[in-house]
Amino acid sequence: MEVVILGSADEVARLAADRIAALVRRRPEAVLGLATGSSPTGIYAELARRTAAGELDMSGVRGFALDEYVGIPPAHPESYAAVIAREVVGPLGMSPDRVRVPDGRAADLEAAAEEYDRAIAAAGGIDLQLLGIGANGHIGFNEPTSSFASRTRIKTLAPRTRADNARFFASPDEVPTHCLTQGLGTILEARELLLVAQGEGKAEAVAAAVEGPLTSMCPGSALQLHRRAAVVVDGAAASALRLTDYYRHTYAHKPGWQRP
Ligand code: GLP
Repeated sequence: MEVVILGSADEVARLAADRIAALVRRRPEAVLGLATGSSPTGIYAELARRTAAGELDMSGVRGFALDEYVGIPPAHPESYAAVIAREVVGPLGMSPDRVRVPDGRAADLEAAAEEYDRAIAAAGGIDLQLLGIGANGHIGFNEPTSSFASRTRIKTLAPRTRADNARFFASPDEVPTHCLTQGLGTILEARELLLVAQGEGKAEAVAAAVEGPLTSMCPGSALQLHRRAAVVVDGAAASALRLTDYYRHTYAHKPGWQRP
C-alpha cells in the first residue's frame, strides 16, 4: 500500500485529481468508481476546474457510484444519484448515460444489487475506485463486520453512520436506515484503489485501515489485500499513523520510474 501524507486537504484533492487525470489521458474510456460524501468533493471540484479550463476531457469516462440510500427518491437532493449528477457528471462533463448509481428504489433490491455487479463486469471492471472512509472504518457503506467477500447488496446503516450523515438532512430521523453498497469483494476487484481522508476525525479509522489488523471490524483494512492501493491523507488524518516517517521518506524519494 502506498501512503501519501500531504500538507493540506487541497493538496490531497490535487494529487488525487492528478492520478485520475493521468488515467483518463491514458484511457479516455476509463471506468471510475465514484465515491460520495465530503471526502472527494475537493477532487471533483479540481477535476471540474481542469475540465472547464480545457485541460481534461472526461466525456468518454464511464462511472459506477459506490453506494446509494434505499427508499429516498432519486430527485431528493441527498440521494447519491442526485449528488453524483450535481457534483460529478455535470461539472466534469461526463455523459449521464455512462454513469450508473445503484437503484435504491428498485422493487426488488436484491436483484438490482446483483445486476449492478453484472453491469460493472460488463463494462470491463473498474479501473480506479475512489474511496472515502467513515469514522467507524467503513468504505462505501460496508459497515464493521462486512464480509471481505461481499458483493453489491443491501446493508443496514450503523447508528454512527446515520449520525455522521445527519448533517446532510433536515433532521436525524430523515437519514435512511438502509442502503445498497458495492461489497468489499466488489471493491477489491477494481484494478486500483485510491482512498482519501482529511481531518482528525478520520485519524483512527485511517490508522486502523492502514496499520491495524486485517479485520472486518475495520472494513477499510480490506485495502491491505489489494495489490495497488493508495491512501492519500492530510496531516490531521495521518496523525494516528505510526510509520509516518517511513511514508514521508518513501514519497519524498519516490523515483520517477516508479509508477504513480
Ligand atoms: C459516507 C459514504 C462513503 C464515504 C463515507 C465517509 O456515508 N457512504 O462512501 O466514503 O461515508 O463520508 P465523508 O467523506 O462524508 O466523511
